[in-house]
Amino acid sequence: MATLEIFNISILFLFSLFLPHRAATPCKGSTCSIDGPLARFPFQIRNNQVSSNCGYPGFDLSCNNQSQTIITFPSSGDFVVQSINYLDQILYINGTDNCMLKRFLHRDLSFEDTPFSIYWGFEGTKNYTFFNCSSDQEIYWPSNIISCLSTEYYKVLFLPTNWSQPRLELHNCTVISTTLIPSSFEWREINRGFKLAWDVPDCRYCEGRDQACGLKKGKSLTIQCLHTGMLYDQIPTHIT
Ligand SMILES: *[C@@H]1O[C@H](CO)[C@@H](O)[C@H](O)[C@H]1NC(C)=O
Ligand SMILES: *[C@@H]1O[C@H](CO)[C@@H](O)[C@H](O)[C@H]1NC(C)=O
Ligand SMILES: *[C@@H]1O[C@H](CO)[C@@H](O)[C@H](O)[C@H]1NC(C)=O
Ligand SMILES: *[C@@H]1O[C@H](CO)[C@@H](O)[C@H](O)[C@H]1NC(C)=O
Ligand SMILES: *[C@@H]1O[C@H](CO)[C@@H](O)[C@H](O)[C@H]1NC(C)=O
Ligand SMILES: *[C@@H]1O[C@H](CO)[C@@H](O)[C@H](O)[C@H]1NC(C)=O
Repeated sequence: MATLEIFNISILFLFSLFLPHRAATPCKGSTCSIDGPLARFPFQIRNNQVSSNCGYPGFDLSCNNQSQTIITFPSSGDFVVQSINYLDQILYINGTDNCMLKRFLHRDLSFEDTPFSIYWGFEGTKNYTFFNCSSDQEIYWPSNIISCLSTEYYKVLFLPTNWSQPRLELHNCTVISTTLIPSSFEWREINRGFKLAWDVPDCRYCEGRDQACGLKKGKSLTIQCLHTGMLYDQIPTHIT
């Protein structure tokens, strides 16, 4: 008899122990497509979370009608999110037309009004000049041709502005514009996307310990590590 009562009490006690934890279940990750990047704190896909406390201001994402994950910046517009590195807090974006360099063609891109900054790499920025060349032009730098802006009849290429040699050789080209581009942009990274970094909120400590990161309840923009692996175990919901 006594054993049963103790048992019942323990059950109640256990239940009360688990209850608050349930209530604090971290937000589910979600994706726009099966192979799309997983959006989880500080990101959230708008209209895909029951709770509005799942993301951090400035980290809202959306899905477009091609199931691409989109981030919209107030002054620079829409970009496709290719991947998110939560451990190093780096976002890889591409142009919505898979043509990131097109966005640099006529102006410097600025992310000043966002939580993100251009990941400059080690070399900072460099001025690049964009050229539009007729098909007669022999091109000695094929890797600098921007294929998404070129056709069979003309090639658009970008070269460091301070190279003097190309100017002498590019007779059949016109200059389109000159723009500051991160030096780290060219060559290696182009297919992975354009790198943006964020510092706030800083979840690297939690991520490094395999813990979820989330907003502290009731403290508007304070974050905390959530002592649960649940976030990662859940199958992400995806929108079609
Ligand atoms: C997707 O939306 C764009 C406008 O944002 C529209 O031009 C396009 O036709 C749409 N495509 C489909 C398949 O609905
Ligand atoms: C990103 O854009 C570049 C062109 O700027 C394109 O070549 C590349 O395929 C795109 N990457 C992906 C993964 O779509
Ligand atoms: C880029 O070009 C502009 C205008 O010619 C110049 O003022 C600026 O100093 C250059 N920046 C770099 C990093 O070369
Ligand atoms: C390059 O030149 C061609 C033909 O002159 C033109 O149709 C095309 O729009 C130009 N491209 C750019 C990006 O300026
Ligand atoms: C420019 O085009 C002409 C033909 O229109 C060609 O003979 C010449 O070699 C081209 N110049 C260069 C530098 O490719
Ligand atoms: C162009 O400028 C970079 C620094 O922005 C410098 O490292 C490089 O040597 C310069 N190249 C030439 C050809 O002047």
